Order: sequence, then C-alpha cells, then structure tokens
Amino acid sequence: MKTFTVVAALAAAGSVFASPTPTEELVARASSTSLTAITVKGNAFFQGTSRFYIRGVDYQPGGSSKLVDPIADTTSCTRDIAEFQKLGINTVRIYTVDNTANHDACMSALAAAGIYLVLDVNTPLYSLNRASPAASYNSVYLQNIFATIDAFANYTNTLAFFSGNEVINDDTTTSAAPYVKAVTRDMRQYIGSRGYRQIPVGYSAADVDSNRLEMAEYMNCGTDDERSDFFAFNDYSWCDPSSFQISGWDQKVKNFTGYGLPIFLSEYGCNTNTRKFEEVAALYNTEMTSVYSGGLVYEYSEEGSNYGLVTISSSGTVTEGADFTSLQTAFKGTANPTGDGGYNSTGGASGCPVQSANWNVTSDALPAIPSGAAALMKKGAGVGAGLTGAGSQNAGGTSTGTATAGSGSITATATSTSKSAATSLQSFDKTPLMMTAFVLGMSFLGAALL
Ligand SMILES: *[C@@H]1O[C@H](CO)[C@@H](O)[C@H](O)[C@H]1NC(C)=O
Ligand SMILES: *[C@@H]1O[C@H](CO)[C@@H](O)[C@H](O)[C@H]1NC(C)=O
Ligand SMILES: *[C@@H]1O[C@H](CO)[C@@H](O)[C@H](O)[C@H]1NC(C)=O
Ligand SMILES: *[C@@H]1O[C@H](CO)[C@@H](O)[C@H](O)[C@H]1NC(C)=O
Repeated sequence: MKTFTVVAALAAAGSVFASPTPTEELVARASSTSLTAITVKGNAFFQGTSRFYIRGVDYQPGGSSKLVDPIADTTSCTRDIAEFQKLGINTVRIYTVDNTANHDACMSALAAAGIYLVLDVNTPLYSLNRASPAASYNSVYLQNIFATIDAFANYTNTLAFFSGNEVINDDTTTSAAPYVKAVTRDMRQYIGSRGYRQIPVGYSAADVDSNRLEMAEYMNCGTDDERSDFFAFNDYSWCDPSSFQISGWDQKVKNFTGYGLPIFLSEYGCNTNTRKFEEVAALYNTEMTSVYSGGLVYEYSEEGSNYGLVTISSSGTVTEGADFTSLQTAFKGTANPTGDGGYNSTGGASGCPVQSANWNVTSDALPAIPSGAAALMKKGAGVGAGLTGAGSQNAGGTSTGTATAGSGSITATATSTSKSAATSLQSFDKTPLMMTAFVLGMSFLGAALL
C-alpha cells in the first residue's frame, strides 16, 4: 500500500558497480535453530507433509521515513518476537533489510519462536523504477538483490523472497511488468545456480482491481524459468463490519480458482472502521483455503497512518493497542482447516494475458538478463550495498536484448526447478520486446516501500 514517495537524487554513475573480488568467498549465514523449510506443491505451501498457511504481520518499525533493518539488532527483534508470540503468528514480512548486516541472532530467535520470514529484496536506492523500468533493470541493481539472497538463503526460516512490491500501481504502469517478471526470473536462476534450496520467489501486487488477474496470470505464464513460485497481492477490501460477500472476497476466490500457484495477501487489514479482524475467520476457512494460503496484517508498529498494532516509543518501549488485542483474539479463535484445506495439487502455468486497455504489455518476451548480472550466476554476487550506496536506478549496465525461451534455466548446478516439463515446451514469441519505457510525468520509485 503506502507508496514510498521520496524522490532520491540518484547518481548516474556506471562506476558504482564494483565486481566482487574473486577470492572473496560467500559467507553463508547459519542459524543455530532451524525450522522445516517451506516448499510449494500445486497451489499451496507445505511444511513437510502438512499444508502451511501464512499467519503473519508486516514488520518495519520506523517505516519508510526512518529506514532501519529490524533484524540486525538483537535488542529490538527480541522485544518484538515476544509480541509476535503473543499474537500467535508464524510469519513476518520485512520490506527492507541491510544486506551487509549480520542477521544470525534475529533469524535464529525468529526460528526458535516458530516464525518464518518473507523478505522484499529491494531498497529505496536499489529497486526498479516504474517510470523508467528499462534503465533501472541493470547489473548494479541485480548484484545488490543477489547479495541479499546470499545473506538469507541459508536460513531455513526464510520462507520466500518478494522480487518487487507494487511496482505496477495502475493501468499505465503495466508496461513495467516485463521487468518485474525478468527480475523474478533472474532471482530464481541465481538461487538455483548458487545451489541454494529452492526458496520461493514471487511478486507482491498493489490493491488494483483492474489488472490484478492479468498480473497474476502474467507472472505465471511462459516457460518454467519465467514463472514465479507464488503470487501475492495487497488487499484492503474487507472493512469491518463486512462479510465474505460484501468484501468481494468471494469473487476473489472465484476469479482465482484454477490458478496454479500459491496465493496469499501480502498486506491486509482495512482500518476505515474499528478493526475487529473478522476477515481472519474467512481467510483460514475452507471457503478460501482452496485458493489462498493466508496473509500478512499491515502492520506491526504504528508509523503515522493508523495501521499499527503496537506503538513503539522513542525509548523503545512497546505498547499494545486495541488492534493488537483484536487480532490476537481473531487468531486465537481461528484454527486452520483440517487436512489439506482443499488445495489444488496439480498446479501449472496460466496463459499470458492479451493486451487491453488495462494491460499494456505487447509481447510475452522478456528483456534478457544484463551481461554483468549473468556473470554473477557463476561467481556469486559478493558484497552488497546495504542501506547506503550510490543507488542503482541510473547506474548503467542495462539489458541489451530480448531473452530466448528458457534462458533463465539453471545450468550451472544440478539443482532444478520442480515444474513440469510439458510447460517448458510452449512456443516462444520472438517479437522484439518494446524496450521503450513509458515515461511518466512524475518520477518516483518503482519499488514502493510500505
Ligand atoms: C548453513 O546452515 C547450516 C545450519 O543451519 C550449517 O550447518 C551449514 O554449514 C551452513 N552452510 C554454510 C555454507 O555455511
Ligand atoms: C504502452 O506502453 C508503451 C511502452 O511499452 C508506451 O509507449 C505506450 O504509450 C503505452 N500506452 C498506454 C496507453 O499507456
Ligand atoms: C472477477 O472477474 C470479473 C470478470 O472478469 C470481473 O468483472 C471482476 O471485477 C473480478 N472481481 C474481482 C474481485 O477481482
Ligand atoms: C487445478 O489446477 C489446474 C492447473 O492450474 C487447473 O487446470 C484445474 O482446473 C484446477 N482444478 C480446480 C478444481 O481448481
């Protein structure tokens, strides 16, 4: 939701991309406590042989105005994990981390509390720019998000990565979709090429009715290497008092029935009226669980827009608000369905959406990975930029052509994706990709933060 509006003066320097020193070995992080890694089967998540539902909150104390990595500091993460346990959640989403920080202690403490992490790999300085997607899809950017993958791949409680958040926020910005999809492809290839476990990668879409279904289909169409592992969207349509029908969630089940990937709500929790979180009972009910795998409540801490469950004082004291108690009660009163919740074990690809007034993508082809980033598949990303750095959006090292079918497949390691071979034989549209960016009058960051 909350569009990140800071217009950063971004250096147009090709020089900011420092290749990692070849001798620099990747320092994989290890957590001393481990949780069973989450896997994807059909349109659902699994924890071993049991269906897994995301019961979580969005977590970024300080918000976008005061960017802090919430899991780089043991004092604050330990404080908040105690609250997470009181809420009874199993997942947090974090929008921005510092990929140079050590997260061992907090990831271990989260794991000990049975909590997984869904992580956005972008930062305000290193992200796609929806106003100039072609320029911002470059090697400097990809190097930094690959470094974030390196920093989190070895924690078994890293549930999933978001490749982007609300990059597309209306119908005109849908022309940025090929870049969002290319980033997703590149992240999946990097994970496979580095020999990491198959950590799910997907996109978090904005709460936009007019192109939600197209976006979901697009992220799940084409060859296997181009398809996401899951799809998520932000949804503020259930405003208490409401119902499955009044909120329109019944339609969102109907419209996504047959979709071949897990879906969850990456943000929910309308605050128009007093929040009772009555949607929790619907979300984990079989009327939704055949299609949806839970969601994340926006948001843990109060950051000035009345979505916070708790307030954190300047001295770091946490005070639970009324919403905290309501959500805690809602979770306590809502068990997961027994059995597998009616999931679809088949899964599979969607067809690519056709161009329309709501969907401005003319070709199914994707931009090729920039050569500088392709080289990182073998040698690793090296050191990331953290929360500082010169920024990537105009750094150069962009894509120079259109990808060939299957070019994002993993060739360097034995690890392969689990998707069916049949879909990889789909024909490939060789029409050159329209690389001309749709230039908006306003310039703001594509990877909306919060
Ligand atoms: C990854 O973490 C596990 C423990 O969770 C550890 O045994 C293993 O050595 C780590 N791998 C690397 C490459 O550090
Ligand atoms: C569609 O996107 C192309 C760039 O890919 C742009 O030139 C065109 O103006 C866009 N059309 C609309 C209606 O937004
Ligand atoms: C569901 O699909 C119908 C038909 O395509 C569309 O009119 C409607 O807006 C969609 N509803 C939701 C909630 O996505
Ligand atoms: C299960 O998923 C497949 C592939 O997406 C789809 O063809 C089928 O209709 C789905 N079945 C149900 C009952 O939704």
